[in-house]
Amino acid sequence: MLTVALPKGRIADETLAIFRKIFQSSFEFEDRKLLMSEGDFKFLMVRNQDIPTYVVNGAADIGVVGLDVLEEHRPDVVRLLDLKIGKCRVCVGIKEGEELNLNAPELKIATKMPHISRNYFAAKATALKIIKLYGSIELAPLVGLADAIVDVVETGTTMKQNGLRVAETIMHSSAHLIANKNSFIIKKDEILSLYEKIKAQI
Ligand code: PRP
Repeated sequence: MLTVALPKGRIADETLAIFRKIFQSSFEFEDRKLLMSEGDFKFLMVRNQDIPTYVVNGAADIGVVGLDVLEEHRPDVVRLLDLKIGKCRVCVGIKEGEELNLNAPELKIATKMPHISRNYFAAKATALKIIKLYGSIELAPLVGLADAIVDVVETGTTMKQNGLRVAETIMHSSAHLIANKNSFIIKKDEILSLYEKIKAQI
């Protein structure tokens, strides 16, 4: 039995579609349920940012999570495979018509990714102030809460509709399959067998 943590939303749907193809089984969550058992698998529906917590602590043997989340949280897990779904970029966004001023006495960056932001600006900006937000990041520069943002860009629509533009791309991201380190020893055959099947599908 393998427990798989999936990030709520499109990546979960696309991962379950891969499982359906491989195992010819329905693999569908019922309405608001967060747990689903089928065949040799138990699936957990969790928030994207919480996937590393479930996997590191062994509540899930494996998980699907964006490379951006792995870079931000740096969890001690085994990185198994790039699933090539959920593709996006982590970008610096700024108001249309404005330029990023790295020499400002204080550059205020609003983000839900403080580590990635700090690493990126550490060697570039004179003085950085991180403003940690949990969502609607694009709003921050519009109301003077921040000079710029660091956020995930997929289609670019959210930035565009809020009068922002991508100033710089920090990294490209896609969903990755990860495993708990102990599970990878104890359930190695099961995990590798699944890994091979998924790899053949993508
Ligand atoms: C992300 C991100 C942007 C948006 C970008 O938020 O924070 O707001 O998607 O997508 P786009 O370029 O296609 O417009 P998401 O909706 O994933 O939710 P979150 O803020 O809860 O993480």
